Amino acid sequence: MNQKPLFKKIDEILHGGDYNPEQWLDRPDILKEDIRLMKQAGVNVVTLGVFSWSVYEPSEGEFHFDWLESIMDNLYQNGIFIILATPSGARPAWLDEKYPEAMRVSSAGVRNHHGVRHNHCMSSPKYREKVGIMIQKLAGKFGKHPGLLLWHISNELGGECYCDLCKSRFQEFLRKKYKDNIDGLNQEWWTTFWSHRFNRFDQIEPPYSNGEGSIHGLNLDWKRFNTWNMTDYMRFEIELLRKLTPDVPVTTNFMRLYKTLDYSVMAKELDLISWDVYPEWENDYEAAVKTANGVSFDHSIMRSFKRDRPFILMESVPSLVNWHPYNKLKRPGTHKLSCVQAVACGSDMVGYFQWRKGRGSYEQFHGAVMDHLGRSDTRVFKEVEEAGNLLKKLQPVAGSIVKPQAAMIFDWNNWWAIEDMAGLSKDKKYGETCRTLYGLFIKNGIEMDVISSDADFGDYKVLVAPMLYLLKPGVADRLKEFTAKGGILIATYLTGYVNENTLCWLGGFPGDGLLELFGLYTEEIDTLYPKDTNTVSFQTEFLHGDYRAFDYCEIIKPQTARVLGEYTRDFYSGTPAVTVNAYGKGYAYYVGTRIGEDGMEALFKKIWEQAGIEAVSLPEGIEYHSRFGNGGSFEFYLNFSDKVQRLTEVKPGKNLITGETVAEVLILEPFDVAVIHSKL
Ligand code: GAL
Repeated sequence: MNQKPLFKKIDEILHGGDYNPEQWLDRPDILKEDIRLMKQAGVNVVTLGVFSWSVYEPSEGEFHFDWLESIMDNLYQNGIFIILATPSGARPAWLDEKYPEAMRVSSAGVRNHHGVRHNHCMSSPKYREKVGIMIQKLAGKFGKHPGLLLWHISNELGGECYCDLCKSRFQEFLRKKYKDNIDGLNQEWWTTFWSHRFNRFDQIEPPYSNGEGSIHGLNLDWKRFNTWNMTDYMRFEIELLRKLTPDVPVTTNFMRLYKTLDYSVMAKELDLISWDVYPEWENDYEAAVKTANGVSFDHSIMRSFKRDRPFILMESVPSLVNWHPYNKLKRPGTHKLSCVQAVACGSDMVGYFQWRKGRGSYEQFHGAVMDHLGRSDTRVFKEVEEAGNLLKKLQPVAGSIVKPQAAMIFDWNNWWAIEDMAGLSKDKKYGETCRTLYGLFIKNGIEMDVISSDADFGDYKVLVAPMLYLLKPGVADRLKEFTAKGGILIATYLTGYVNENTLCWLGGFPGDGLLELFGLYTEEIDTLYPKDTNTVSFQTEFLHGDYRAFDYCEIIKPQTARVLGEYTRDFYSGTPAVTVNAYGKGYAYYVGTRIGEDGMEALFKKIWEQAGIEAVSLPEGIEYHSRFGNGGSFEFYLNFSDKVQRLTEVKPGKNLITGETVAEVLILEPFDVAVIHSKL
C-alpha cells in the first residue's frame, strides 16, 4: 500500500495550533519568546489569521499585512510552517455598520446586531465581495510564501440565516430541485394535508420559528438548502484561492457531529479534512475508555470522508476548555493518549486551540499551551513538549492510512428526518445508537469507517446501518448489490420507512425493494416507556442467550428470513425480533428492536466470525487501532486505564515510542501508549 505524505513541504506528523500574534503586537518580547518556546515544544506548524480581519483592515480599504509578513518569515526561518486562515469567521464593526445585509436574520425573522462571530449571511453579495477582496490581498501577498502549507477557510462554518436573500435563494433551490413543477413539490411534501398546498415557489418561506414548521419535506429541504448555500459560499472562497494559488491545498475545520450542516456534502469540496475535537475527558459519567471510543467515532467520521488520505486534527486543547458545563483539567497522561489516539485514527496532525491564552474577553480562561503565568515549566507545557517529542517519533506513520473491513452508515439526511419525525418517542437517539454500536466494534479491536449512505460500500465485509429510516434514491439498490456480492449487512428497527422527501413507502417497511433483501416486512412498531423492557431470546445453533430489549420493538413478519431471536413478553411474545436472510452470496440481518450492548456484542461476534473478521482480544481499558503503509502496519495500543496491562498476540515489530522490539507480549503502564511498526 502506497504511503503518500499529505504535504509536499513536510512529511512529519504536524504539531502546533492556532496562534494569534495580532493580540500581542505591542509585546515584541512575547512574540520572540513564542518562537523559542514553540521550538522547545516541538511545534512545526501554526494556524494564523483566523480572527485577524479588524487588524488586517481596520477601516474599509485600509490594509495592514506587514506585521503578518514578519511573523510568517520568522516562523518559517525557525522551521515552523503556516496554515493561513481566511478571516471570514468574524467581521470588523465597520463592515456591519456599512453593510447590515452581512448580518444574519434569526429564525424569528429578526436581523441580528453586530457581534460575536458566526453571524454572517452566506447569501450576502456584499459579504462575499468584501471577503473576496481580502482573499485576493492575502493570496497575492502570501500565496508564494515558502512557509505556507495550507489554506484554512473561515472558521467552523455554521449556523443558518433567514433573511430575504436567503429566502429567495431557498425558493430558487426548490424550483430547481422540483424542476419548476409546484405540483411535484406539493406531492413530495404531501401538502394537501392541513390545506398546505402551494401555488407558486415564491410563496414558500423558510421554516420560521413562528411560521411553517409542520411540513417534514419543507424542513428537510431547508436543511439541505442551508448545506448547499454554505457549501456554495465555501466554494466561492475555495475557487478564488485555487485560482490564485493552485499549489496550496485547502481545508476548513469541521466540528464533531454538527447537526446543522451535512459535512459529507461539504467534504467533497476540500483537499483534506480537518476538524476540532473538544471531548469531555475526565467526566463523571463514563470510563475513560468509553469517552475515548466516542472520540474515535468522531475521528472515524472525519477520516471516512476521504478514505485515501489522512485527515488533520486542527484544534484540541492540552488542558481545559471554558464552555463545557464543568471545565475539568485534563489529568496527567490524558493529553499524550488523546494525541496518539488522533494519529491512531488517521490524523497526521495534532493542533491546539491555542498557543497562548489571551488576556481578556470571552476565551481568556480557555486552556492553551502557554498560560498567563508565562512559564514553560508548567505541567501543561511539559505535557505538550512530551507530545511534541512523541509525535516526532511517529514520523514513519505520516501518510499511512486506516483500512477498516467494516463500516457504519451515519447519514445527516437520515438524522434530520428522524429528529423531525413526529412519532415514536421524543428522543430517538440516532447518534447515540450509532456511537454505541460503533463502540462494540472498537472494543473488540475492529476498526470501522463511518460513512454516509451515498458513499461506496464496495470495500467492506460488514456494513452496519442503524435506524436507516430515510432511503435516498439508489441506496436500497446499492445495499442489495453489496449483500449480493457477499457482504454482510446489519440493519435495525426503523429501516426504510420514508423516501428522500419523507414520504412513507407503501406496501411494507423496509421500503424501496428492501423487503426482498431482508426477507420480511414489519407490521407495527411499539414504543416502550423508559421503564418497560422486553427480552429477545436467541435459541438457535447460531446464538443462544436472552438479552434485554428496550425503547422500540417492531412486529416482524418474516417471508424468506430465518428467525434468530424472538420476543418473550407482551402480546408479541414468541414473534421474531432478529432475523437473517441469505441474499446472493451474502446475508442481511435485521434487528427489529433496540438490544442491550451485551446482546449486540454477542450477535456481532457471530457475524464477525462469519465474515472472517478477526476480533482482537483486548483487556478492558485498552483501545487499539492500526494504520497501513508501504512499510507494513502501525499498531496502536492505548491504555486508558490506571492499571498495568499485559497484551498478548501483539503483531511483532518495533515500538516507535520506546525503540524496543516487541515479540508477542506487550506490557503497557497506566495511561501509556505503544505504536508498533510491524513490517510486512
Ligand atoms: C473552537 C473555535 C476556536 C475556539 C475554540 C474554543 O470551536 O474554532 O476558535 O473558540 O473552539 O474551544
